[in-house]
Amino acid sequence: MQPNVLIAVKNLTKVYGKANLAVKVLDVGNLAIRRGELVALTGPSGCGKTTLLNLLGALDRPTAGDIFFAGKRFTSQRETALCRFRREKIGFIFQTYHLIPTLSALKNVLAPALPLGKDYRKRALALLGMVGLTGKENRRPGALSGGEQQRVAIARALLLDPELILADEPTGNLDSAAGAGIIDLLKELNQQGKTVLVATHDQRVADNCGRNIRLVDGQVISHCKSRQDIVKNRQNPAAFKQ
Ligand SMILES: Nc1ncnc2c1ncn2[C@@H]1O[C@H](COP(=O)(O)OP(=O)(O)OP(=O)(O)O)[C@@H](O)[C@H]1O
Ligand SMILES: [Mg+2]
Repeated sequence: MQPNVLIAVKNLTKVYGKANLAVKVLDVGNLAIRRGELVALTGPSGCGKTTLLNLLGALDRPTAGDIFFAGKRFTSQRETALCRFRREKIGFIFQTYHLIPTLSALKNVLAPALPLGKDYRKRALALLGMVGLTGKENRRPGALSGGEQQRVAIARALLLDPELILADEPTGNLDSAAGAGIIDLLKELNQQGKTVLVATHDQRVADNCGRNIRLVDGQVISHCKSRQDIVKNRQNPAAFKQ
């Protein structure tokens, strides 16, 4: 496996249900995401985007096949090892934020550090500043807009400095302006070196990614450069490297 590949899958399948109710919803032969990529995962509703993200982030186990993170196969690991892997290596961002409603923004950001017994308060405050929420640290999610709640979720995803960010429809519940702010943040994180895979129906998100992976009926049907890169390529082919 190439050293610059962060996450790769081989012959990955997911079947939901048993016996004559079994349905194969994912069947991906080969897929690799390199360190530092910003990739969109697109495709019609029900094509398997969330299923794939859940498998890549070890939130769920595949029916068959392997997933490698930094060259190491994690598919067969025990739950305790997977739990640690998830906490240390992956930052999750969800469409509906998944914040704890009774906790302040700051405490939500600190939640992933609870089992670690180390003080992350300074880092959490810095991250809330980075996502533009200075002054709103003590507000509960109910007193924040959708865009602000998603910013809290992004700060939380970054708390333990994961290598890979998996975002599932991060702009799906947001209006156009708030969505644009989240896209800018994801791009900024990527420019800071994070590898980002984002499942999306939002063409603006896909256009801002370096590569689009398109799934249909659980299968990868194309990997293409984003529309922005295609336009750049037409304008200045010499500047476009494969
Ligand atoms: N727990 C489950 N049990 C049974 N079937 C499931 C389960 N989760 C998802 N599915 C099915 O798997 C298929 C893929 O679902 P998935 O949620 O991955 O699609 P998606 O591409 O994320 O869709 P959307 O764009 O609507 O979010 C769908 O047909 C869905 O009904
Ligand atoms: Mg989904």
